[in-house]
Amino acid sequence: VTAPLDAILAAVDGDRLWRRLEALARFGATPGGGVTRLALSAEEIAARRFLIDLARARGLAAFSDAAGNLFLRLEGARPDRPCVLTGSHVDSQPRGGRFDGAFGVMAGLEVLEAFLDAGATPPVAIEVVAWMNEEASRFAPGMMGSKAFVGEWDLPAMRSVADGAGVTVGEALDALDAAEPDVPKRPLRRPVACFVEAHIEQGPLLERCATPVGVVTGIQGTRRYRVTVSGAAGHAGTVPPGDRRDAMMAAARMIARIDAAAARVDGMMATCGMLRLELGAPSVIPAEAFFSIDIRHPQDAAVEEMDRAIEQAAAAAAGPCEIRIDRIARAPTLEFPEAMRRRIAEAAARAGEPATDIFSAAGHDARHLNAWCPTGMIFIPCRDGISHAETEWCDPADVLSGARVLAATLASAAWDPPGGSAP
Ligand code: GLV
Ligand code: MN
Ligand code: MN
Repeated sequence: VTAPLDAILAAVDGDRLWRRLEALARFGATPGGGVTRLALSAEEIAARRFLIDLARARGLAAFSDAAGNLFLRLEGARPDRPCVLTGSHVDSQPRGGRFDGAFGVMAGLEVLEAFLDAGATPPVAIEVVAWMNEEASRFAPGMMGSKAFVGEWDLPAMRSVADGAGVTVGEALDALDAAEPDVPKRPLRRPVACFVEAHIEQGPLLERCATPVGVVTGIQGTRRYRVTVSGAAGHAGTVPPGDRRDAMMAAARMIARIDAAAARVDGMMATCGMLRLELGAPSVIPAEAFFSIDIRHPQDAAVEEMDRAIEQAAAAAAGPCEIRIDRIARAPTLEFPEAMRRRIAEAAARAGEPATDIFSAAGHDARHLNAWCPTGMIFIPCRDGISHAETEWCDPADVLSGARVLAATLASAAWDPPGGSAP
């Protein structure tokens, strides 16, 4: 039996999907046209309720798990078989874009609705997931839900992570449970036939080659750090030069050395996106500087070289201060399995959508699912390659193209599931 692909593709409704994206963007909307929808915030919990209501209105089941992942399920002919999984995340960066993550979740839901509209019951269930805390903008490191789902991070340790206000993931998850008493729980580490994540590219390549769909080949490696520089508070005008232990000045020296080291490596991405000072007053010598480092490069050896450069930068920059480096996340460069890439490329061809291979410079939950089940990703272009910014935008035609390729890929996976599944 083959999938009724023509009927499914004809039922993928670009206008409905676009309206849903607009509706989702109202949760945490910012004046600049983006969203601030931090993980497990009131805004995200309201967005999840919107998804649950939409799904239930179409007869889809909603459930979650102990890590706060939300699943919307279209039942298959064989409910006992591992499901085909798609989705992404609905949390955002502060003043982030309305498509990052949201596109993958809403495109997944659109595909489920297209299956329903086409009267196509898949042989196995298809589920759309919204992973908990992909972005790490409230609780760090991110991709918590997907890491917990595959067993890469145990729940008690994850629950103990606190945000800047001292609220722990555990407390935030308990608040989520209180807000979703009607959503039944399923276990973590469930078998899954395969995972396909649709996402905006967040870079300029697809737009430059005017191609609506990217078949993602892999994801570049990352290391993430938190650095604490400790000095001593004092009067800006009275502490003599030789006695000053200025944490900000030491941080500045260290960051300048990181910048110089990164400039020596072709393709190195080094970002210090967060810096907090204690006390943070103009006439007080900062007693502490706390900042983030984000290192990314397609070659793991280059990332490791930067790791050593960061260590050396701290030693050279500390002066009278102390510098502590916490390595909070590390992920090697990965390649998605050839069979999944081929399946997506064939789906694009079946849907009549031009597609090209593309390597992901951004991180995604698909990284962690890749260790659990056959995994692949579909990209669509975004305007000027801008993401993690309120100006992030997509062309509705590309949104539809991506959803059509996702529909064809999920149909292929449901009617002809990949062999491998997790134990
Ligand atoms: C994910 O949001 C990333 O920072 O790559
Ligand atoms: Mn994302
Ligand atoms: Mn993001």
